[in-house]
Amino acid sequence: MTDAAAETPICVVGAGYVGLVTAACLAARGHQVRLVEIDAGRREAVAQGRAPFHEPGLDELLATVVGDRRLCVTDDMRASVDGAGVVIVAVGTPPTAEGDADLTQVRAAVAGVAEQCAAGTVIAIKSTVPPGTTATLARTVAAGRQLVMCPEFLREGSALHDFHHPARLVVGGDDAAACRRVADLFADLGGELILTDSTSAELVKYGTNAFLALKISFINEIAHLCELTGASVDAVADGMGHDPRVGRAFLNAGLGFGGSCFPKDVRALEATAGYHGHSFWMLKAAVEVNAQQRRRFVGKVREALGGSVSGRRVAVLGLAFKPGTDDLRQAPSLEVIRHLQDLGAEVSATDPVAMDKAAPLLPGTRLAADAYTCATDADCAVLVTEWPQFRALDWRRMRAEMRGRVVVDGRNCLDGAALRSLGFAYHSVGRRSLLPD
Ligand SMILES: NC(=O)c1ccc[n+]([C@@H]2O[C@H](COP(=O)([O-])OP(=O)(O)OC[C@H]3O[C@@H](n4cnc5c(N)ncnc54)[C@H](O)[C@@H]3O)[C@@H](O)[C@H]2O)c1
Repeated sequence: MTDAAAETPICVVGAGYVGLVTAACLAARGHQVRLVEIDAGRREAVAQGRAPFHEPGLDELLATVVGDRRLCVTDDMRASVDGAGVVIVAVGTPPTAEGDADLTQVRAAVAGVAEQCAAGTVIAIKSTVPPGTTATLARTVAAGRQLVMCPEFLREGSALHDFHHPARLVVGGDDAAACRRVADLFADLGGELILTDSTSAELVKYGTNAFLALKISFINEIAHLCELTGASVDAVADGMGHDPRVGRAFLNAGLGFGGSCFPKDVRALEATAGYHGHSFWMLKAAVEVNAQQRRRFVGKVREALGGSVSGRRVAVLGLAFKPGTDDLRQAPSLEVIRHLQDLGAEVSATDPVAMDKAAPLLPGTRLAADAYTCATDADCAVLVTEWPQFRALDWRRMRAEMRGRVVVDGRNCLDGAALRSLGFAYHSVGRRSLLPD
């Protein structure tokens, strides 16, 4: 980065997982960053050098860059875009009831920036938006403002690492100089640089998430076939995954995909295809398989408890959609817990970091401070999120707390043989159940 580049402020709009991580990391790299956020609670947390959500390492980074005054947060768009060379838009694109991407936040943010920024400013969209969105929005901004698509690939739970070690950098737009200015912010981090048009850049993001979701649903279908034929999904996934054309990543059978991105992006891509008159059957199948996987899992718990969960106590280990985050958007835990409760189960649940966010979403669920308290008097323990803390549980102690001896592992991450030797019946996904002698 040249000194001149470092002195030109950068504006980031939206202090969510993407915006806040991007802003903090750019500030740590020497940029002067102005963060615009409409939510007062989020602004207050950031101003105090705290992240408003759980992301490993982010609190420490924020304390430094806010303390050094490299990052400031405000709701004043006009002041924030004044003199900024690049404005990064990282607001939410939640799903509508129909499943397509709700672009209200993006439209409002781009309009707000474009209205206030000077000619020559580059507006880079990092939000995930359907193909064609950037090109359409570009026609709404005044002459001299360039709109560029720069999709984000970070993963919650390892977002800081992902910022610093990108696999690729994709930048799409009509104006080569504008694309280059955005690419220069991240170029020396490494990864392949792909300069393209904005619609292709948008489709790279959707294509990536949809393909990974397909992989997950595919291995879950294979897992079901393993259960029907007596095969083991571990061996099958390893055997498939060692083929470099296939790859082992995202071939972990379990409860399926959740979170703020895969479910909404798969549905949004399907909706986009439909809008263009194309039925994207593979995406429909991925979504249906994913929903079926949750239903099957609850069926597995019911079977493990002798055919009914009514009046039985089930301890759910893990609420976040994956380890390393407190994000509960589309978390499988919520669906599994509600389904169990509909069938009459009494559910207790615990999570290392997502308890505060879970409380308003799970009325009627006893939220426990840790796994051992959660397991007290439980007939069955159900593992939903593969937190390292749960892999390392003392199952003798769990056994002493529980009244039943049943474990159902929705992530295939516990040591089934060890559990069986402690007298538990162990059920998992795509493998034979292990029953005590
Ligand atoms: N979360 C992820 O892991 C991830 C990864 C890659 C891409 N994405 C995409 O990035 C985008 C952002 O995702 P997120 O998870 O960070 O969202 P988020 O909902 O956590 O954060 C969005 C933030 O933008 C703020 N905001 C909305 N409108 C605003 C405006 N006009 N001015 C200022 N602030 C405004 C909201 O208050 C919120 O704090 C989405 O399109 C998402 O699909 C997310």
